[in-house]
Amino acid sequence: MSELRFDDRVVVVTGAGAGLGRAYAHLFASRGAKVVVNDLGGGRHGDGSSSKAADTVVEEIKAKGGVAVADYNSVVEGEKIIKTALDNFGRVDVLINNAGILRDKSFARISDQDWDLVHLVHLKGSFKTTQAAFPVFKKQNYGRIIMTASNSGIYGNFGQANYSAAKMGLIGLANTIAIEGGRNNIHCNVIIPTAASRLTEDILPPDVFAELKPELIAPVVAYLCHESCEDNGVYIDSAAGWAGKYEIVRSKGTTLRNSKKEGVSIENVKNAWGRVTDMSGSHKLSSIEEATGTLLTALEEMEGTGSGGDQEERGQSQE
Ligand code: NAI
Repeated sequence: MSELRFDDRVVVVTGAGAGLGRAYAHLFASRGAKVVVNDLGGGRHGDGSSSKAADTVVEEIKAKGGVAVADYNSVVEGEKIIKTALDNFGRVDVLINNAGILRDKSFARISDQDWDLVHLVHLKGSFKTTQAAFPVFKKQNYGRIIMTASNSGIYGNFGQANYSAAKMGLIGLANTIAIEGGRNNIHCNVIIPTAASRLTEDILPPDVFAELKPELIAPVVAYLCHESCEDNGVYIDSAAGWAGKYEIVRSKGTTLRNSKKEGVSIENVKNAWGRVTDMSGSHKLSSIEEATGTLLTALEEMEGTGSGGDQEERGQSQE
């Protein structure tokens, strides 16, 4: 296979002064991209700022013969980061929303500030930066966007309620951007990484930590952002040289009443609960239209045919 290149592409990586973002910036630059290395250079909890983190990565890239420029803005001012790309390179093709902080506390102890700062950096930061890039992508009929979610959101994780909520918010954001951008060849996909970084150094066991090199996830992100990748709106989990895809599935479900003339009682719900939650016929619905379609089918089933609600449950129990 010929090498997958990013020549003439301009790639913005937020939070690229360390960890995963640094690995992404290095890989894109090594494949010919011009890279904006954005990093506020603050602490792990969102405190302070410094130009050092971004400058160091830019120097490293340049030392290897790559092209990169530093940007020190917070992602909350995403329009300034995109301006850095346009001012220096005249275009932007790829945006990796990667910057992140943690303010871990057990749920009962989360302050408004812990909640707001985490949402500000992860969710609003990704919104602002992507919204600034979107018109540019639209105009050139090309764009690749990555949102960074987390298994902490998918499964929950003790002490990370604020972070879990923000990370799942990014999946919702990506879902709609994928739809709105798709018609203009703008793809928005989600990476769900697990990597050794300052965010995970006291969370992951040391032997596992050593195997979780950010460099092993970077190629997955780079492929998702290549022009040859046709996926849009997918969620990819990756760590330690492994990758897999998530999908949200729904049970087949069941009608809770026998006809549209009837209401639904709490007892109807209890009787039908086994079929509501039976995942044996579960599948992924590909769009909100498909979900609405299944609702219309359910309404047709309630046209007095007696296929739903208590009657079916009784019929089943007689068998
Ligand atoms: P890291 O702490 O090494 O890197 C994050 C970078 O973002 C830092 O250099 C930091 O200065 C920068 N940053 C923070 N706030 C910023 C802001 N407002 N504007 C610009 N830059 C800012 O962390 P890591 O692990 O590389 O995380 C990268 C992303 O991956 C984060 O979004 C994180 O939540 C996510 N993630 C990481 C996992 C892991 O296992 N490391 C697991 C799941 C998600």
